[in-house]
Parts: sequence; structure tokens; C-alpha cells
Amino acid sequence: MTPKANAHIEAMSAFALANFGGYDQATLAQNESAFPPSPQAIEAGRDAVARSHLYPDPDWTLLKDAIALIYRVERGLILCGAGSMDLIACTIAAFAGPGDEVLGTAYAYNFIASAAARVGATYVKAPERDFTVSIDAILATLTPATRIVFVCNPGNPTGTLIRNAELLRLRAALPGNVLLVIDQAYGEFDDQDPEPVFALAGRGDTIVLRSLSKAYGLAGARVGWGLFSPRIAAELRKMQNSNQVSTVSLAMALAAVEDQAYMRATVARTAEIRDRFVRDLRAAGYAVPESRTNFVLVRFPDAAAVETADKTLRGAGIVVRGLNGYGLTDCLRVTIGPQEIMGRTLQILTSMRGRRCW
Ligand SMILES: Cc1ncc(COP(=O)(O)O)c(C=O)c1O
Repeated sequence: MTPKANAHIEAMSAFALANFGGYDQATLAQNESAFPPSPQAIEAGRDAVARSHLYPDPDWTLLKDAIALIYRVERGLILCGAGSMDLIACTIAAFAGPGDEVLGTAYAYNFIASAAARVGATYVKAPERDFTVSIDAILATLTPATRIVFVCNPGNPTGTLIRNAELLRLRAALPGNVLLVIDQAYGEFDDQDPEPVFALAGRGDTIVLRSLSKAYGLAGARVGWGLFSPRIAAELRKMQNSNQVSTVSLAMALAAVEDQAYMRATVARTAEIRDRFVRDLRAAGYAVPESRTNFVLVRFPDAAAVETADKTLRGAGIVVRGLNGYGLTDCLRVTIGPQEIMGRTLQILTSMRGRRCW
């Protein structure tokens, strides 16, 4: 006899990251920033290392002060976590369980499905149109068992964006007992005014999530934040470990948020590299949906073409993300990296297309 995990855990798969095939590769597979964190964040992290004998501030006091000021949000609504993944997992664990449905969209970030499976909830997908979230499709997929609706805006792995007015329309149409989670991990790449969406969090039925992993270049520090009504926050805090954001990560996050000029420059430079890459890929004949993130979805004629391209890129030391897990077997997702790597990636993809390798 050996110990047995819960049946629903045994039945689920582990959350799949990209297959790197070795760490000597240039990875364009995890939507990490093309640029290092702000020099001020690096300096703050170095200083904080010397305070590592102390537990971190469990209330994230200084970071919340800075976020409230800079994002013009109510300080009392902010919770931080070890990346937005932590906040996603805790939200689902607090608000859904066996017999409940968590409703996402066809190509929503896969971790949401994984977090639902962990608690034995059923994950349901609403169709998307042209790789873009459809509010009407979400509303048509709703059932009496739906407890949480998740919308990633912009989306991952599609990179596409819907207008904030559509999110307001969704909230207005959802029953009051359905929790709406708006995941804005790439929100800094979206130039819409975030205020109307942030304001939804005050209603008590909506959560808005943000990440420092993308625009701030802190994926390795693991810091996310979100806006939660006091009643929702009280439940979330029961699910979180009290010291989950480390002293070093908190210090880096605070300095990074305070250095808005650096973050803005990172976003602008990334968008510039992205837009050039997209323009050149389209000129070479690839279909690429409009991205408002630090990655792009590249469509190939079929799955065999994807396999050839993936293998050729890996042969050149470049790892991109296959999307079979999303059912997008004819697509690859390419994170925007430094210009030099993007140039090499483009050259390989363009030449394959030119030679009709598939
Ligand atoms: C849509 C979306 N949400 C959340 C996350 C998780 O981000 P974090 O690093 O803050 O946990 C990601 C990461 O890729 C993402 O793409």
C-alpha cells in the first residue's frame, strides 16, 4: 500500500511550461521581458538581500502605497501575490469547487484551467472569434453552475485585445453571484485608460489582476497584484501563505513601480521591435493577429509546417512556444526578445516560407 493523492489530482496533468531542450538556448517561449529590470530595482534587490534574515512584510505596505499612487487605485482594494498565478490559484480555490464551472475563453491562459482542475472544478471554454475574446460567446456559454468567468485582456497566447467597454458590458450582463476576473498581465502594453476596469473591482463581484513579470521585467521575482473588494480579499487572504512575496522581491517590485520612466521605455521599445517583426512576417506571407503584448501568435499553413519551423529554430538555438496544449496546432507563439534574436528568428521564418519548406 502506498499513499494516494486525491483522485482529481491524480487525474489532472501538471501545468506545462515550454519545452526548452537545454538552457543554452535563446528562449522566446515564456513571454519574459526582452530587457532586464530597472537598474533601480536591481540596486534595491541587492540591498534587500542583507535583510533576508527577516520575514517579508506580509501586508506589502510600501508596494501597495506605490501602486495606489501610480495606478490611481484605492489602496484598500490591493492584494499582492507571488505572481498573478498565485492570485489566480487562490481565487479559484476560494470561489469554486467540485460541481462548479470556471468559464474561460478558447485560448485563455492555460494556467486557469490547471488551477480549476486542482480544486476539482470543471473548466469550460467559450469560443473566440478571430483569436479574440467574444463577450457574446461568453454569455452564451454561461450555465447555472458557472461560479467564475475569466477574461485575459490582452489575451495569451493570442496577444489580441478587446475594448474596455466590452468588459463593462460583460459585467453588466453577468448575474451578481458570478465572479468576474479580468486578468491584465499585459495591461501596461494596452493604451486604453484602465480606470473604468479598475473601478469594477469596487462593486464586490469583480477582480482585476496585474503582473510585474512582463512590462517591469520581474518574472523571476514573482510579484503580482490585484484589486479585490474587502469581502473577496478577506477570503483570498485565507488562501494565501502569509509571507509569499520575498523581501528581495518586494524591494525590487517597489523600486520597479517607482521607475515608471524605465517601464514605459521598455514597453515602447518592445512594441517597436514587435511591430517591425509583425510587419516583416506578414510581408513574408504569415498570418499574425494584431498583438498588444510582448509576444505574437504566428500562423502556419498546418501542423507539419509548425513542426518544421520549431525544429529549424531550435537547431539555430531559438526556442519558441508550441501551442498544441491550446489546440492551436498550426501556430507558434513567439515572445519579443532583443532585436538581434528577433532578426535571426525572422530570417529563418522568412527563408522557410520563401523555400516553401512545407
Ligand atoms: C494572461 C496571463 N496571466 C497571468 C500570467 C502569470 O503571470 P505571473 O508571472 O504574474 O504569475 C501570465 C504569464 O504568462 C499570463 O500570460
